[in-house]
Amino acid sequence: MSGFVAGMVPAAGRTRRAVHHTAFHRTYAVVLTPKGTSVATRKPFVGGNWKMNTNRTTGSDLARAVSDGLVNLDGLDAAVFPPFPYLLTIRSILRDRGASIRLGSQDVYHQQDGAFTGEVSIAMLKDCGVQSVLVGHSERRHVMGEKDELINKKLRALLDAGLEAVLCVGETQEEREAGHQEIVNARQVRTALAEIPAPYTDRLIVAYEPVWAIGTGMTATPQDAQEMHAMIRGLLARLYSQASADRVRIIYGGSVKPDNAAELFSQTDIDGGLIGGASLKSADFVAICKAAAETAGAKP
Ligand code: PGA
Repeated sequence: MSGFVAGMVPAAGRTRRAVHHTAFHRTYAVVLTPKGTSVATRKPFVGGNWKMNTNRTTGSDLARAVSDGLVNLDGLDAAVFPPFPYLLTIRSILRDRGASIRLGSQDVYHQQDGAFTGEVSIAMLKDCGVQSVLVGHSERRHVMGEKDELINKKLRALLDAGLEAVLCVGETQEEREAGHQEIVNARQVRTALAEIPAPYTDRLIVAYEPVWAIGTGMTATPQDAQEMHAMIRGLLARLYSQASADRVRIIYGGSVKPDNAAELFSQTDIDGGLIGGASLKSADFVAICKAAAETAGAKP
């Protein structure tokens, strides 16, 4: 991986792209405009980040209820991110129910194996059926002290291994009050993507989650969130290409609830959400997923 820069297409990347061809076309419908140019429409993504909540019984009940609630819902990629010890249990439930919900992990360590007590590798996650992984969640950054460089290592390793990665970025309250939100989010995105080649962005999702909005009940206004999502998409276009940037799902997180989801998701550059508290209530999570599918269908 080392030596690649954004925009380069290494031979390995081309091979990998071919391997993921089918998944790519399932995720991005290509719409032909009257003039014949093509515009990618993004399928919304909604993830339920359970954090350090649930136990084997309540997590199983939640997975069953969410599977049943989403059974006939098309036009969206939904995922749940349970705690590590319950991954296999939740995978069995999703499989038994025939749910198309993705199994996600809240974190990973980038090294292949070895003396890293307490850490979990990509191979272990794959072994448990994990398809999607959160990287750089605000609580990892601010409670556990993860730095941009470590987040870059994790993201590179995940995308290199063919997994879907949800890169989380967001400014703190002090940074927003100082008017530094653009600088902070741009730095987090840019450093996380260092040496990640363009084809890998097909498996990338970016979650904009202002730290001050997470778990606080305070939500960014749809306009403030849209502004930041547009800034991130513009940055991706400069780092890669407009076409790549147009395909990356940029989702919003931070106190998303059934009653504010539709307004947030109807913004041009908001392609779904990462849901914490409300993902622990199946009815709320299902309602948020429905809002994402419906608003995506109504976007121009
Ligand atoms: P919240 O969490 O929905 O409880 O604010 C979001 C997140 O941390 O991903």
